[in-house]
Amino acid sequence: MNRIRWGILGTGNIARQFAKGLALLPDADLVAVGSREQATAVAFANHYHIPHAHASYEALAKDAHVDVVYVATPHVFHLANSLLCLEHGKAVLCEKPFTINKRQAEAVFNRARQKNLFVMEAMWTIFFPAMAAVRQLIQGGTLGDVRLVTADFGYRAALDPHGRHFNPALGGGALLDVGIYPLALAQMIYGPPARISSMAHLGETGVDEQAAITLGYEGGKMAVLHTAVRTETPHEAVIMGTDGRIRIHAPWWQPSQFTLTRPGQADQVMNIPYAGNGYQYEATAVMACLRDAKTQHDLMPWSTTLSLQETMDTVRAQWGLHYPGET
Ligand SMILES: NC(=O)c1ccc[n+]([C@@H]2O[C@H](COP(=O)([O-])OP(=O)(O)OC[C@H]3O[C@@H](n4cnc5c(N)ncnc54)[C@H](OP(=O)(O)O)[C@@H]3O)[C@@H](O)[C@H]2O)c1
Repeated sequence: MNRIRWGILGTGNIARQFAKGLALLPDADLVAVGSREQATAVAFANHYHIPHAHASYEALAKDAHVDVVYVATPHVFHLANSLLCLEHGKAVLCEKPFTINKRQAEAVFNRARQKNLFVMEAMWTIFFPAMAAVRQLIQGGTLGDVRLVTADFGYRAALDPHGRHFNPALGGGALLDVGIYPLALAQMIYGPPARISSMAHLGETGVDEQAAITLGYEGGKMAVLHTAVRTETPHEAVIMGTDGRIRIHAPWWQPSQFTLTRPGQADQVMNIPYAGNGYQYEATAVMACLRDAKTQHDLMPWSTTLSLQETMDTVRAQWGLHYPGET
């Protein structure tokens, strides 16, 4: 398999961004899109020059021209949409959060294992060149022993009780939408947490409008994270070690610049720009796995997604936040 043929499931905001990112890859073909409505599928297909427009997600999943489907629907549909694609033999790149809880994520991975198919959560941030440089510095020991990480992702959205950000039926709230980014950064640096404490403000629709999460690790290492959907935050991450620190400049989750500070030395500002909108890096990672017949990517393996889901389950249990009909 040389060129990889993509399908996009859903035609919303992130589907459009991903289609733009994919267009930068010479070895990727966006061959199909699926929508709940014929007219929406056709409009999206015309705009992004996609040959096959499907009036249902099932028709997309069955499309024999497609190797891998990018799932771009609201969180609560990721389970059903990913299973549908796997059922029809398609590899899956599913938007974050992978599902709304760990049990659902396990169901998807179990099916992928049975079918021997590739699946990955679309945690695009960790695939940026700047993030690779940060990892290299940490792994090379430049910061010494990393002891503390701070990171935030919060924005002020208009309160629409029906939209996916605030509607509990669509998995609303800051944690699953953007709180997952700081959690993923902490996970990338430390692995799974040993201790979790948190506090949230649940707003008038019952979902978390803002939250603070503290994670503890072996030897007293910590991550201090916050997230919001009604408050704009600085969008910065700082990784602090015994021999120095890295501040990833805003927005750290779409990184292109960071400052390395070490005792007794002048600050070094590193500029590592990304091409386009940056969504193509995760797509490149997926395509490398498909060509190598791998079912998981080393940077975002199933165990990492399961650990993130478990942390979010624990945090939501601390708040008493359950989604309607959650299984
Ligand atoms: N990686 C990132 O940077 C990033 C950024 C934003 C969002 N996301 C993630 O991507 C997912 C989608 O977010 P989005 O902002 O693209 O959402 P959105 O603009 O609301 O689009 C979601 C799409 O899902 C489909 N859909 C199916 N059932 C739906 C329902 N009952 N209500 C609304 N839409 C439904 C619709 O496509 P059809 O009408 O064509 O069926 C819709 O256009 C979320 O899980 C979110 O966390 C990721």
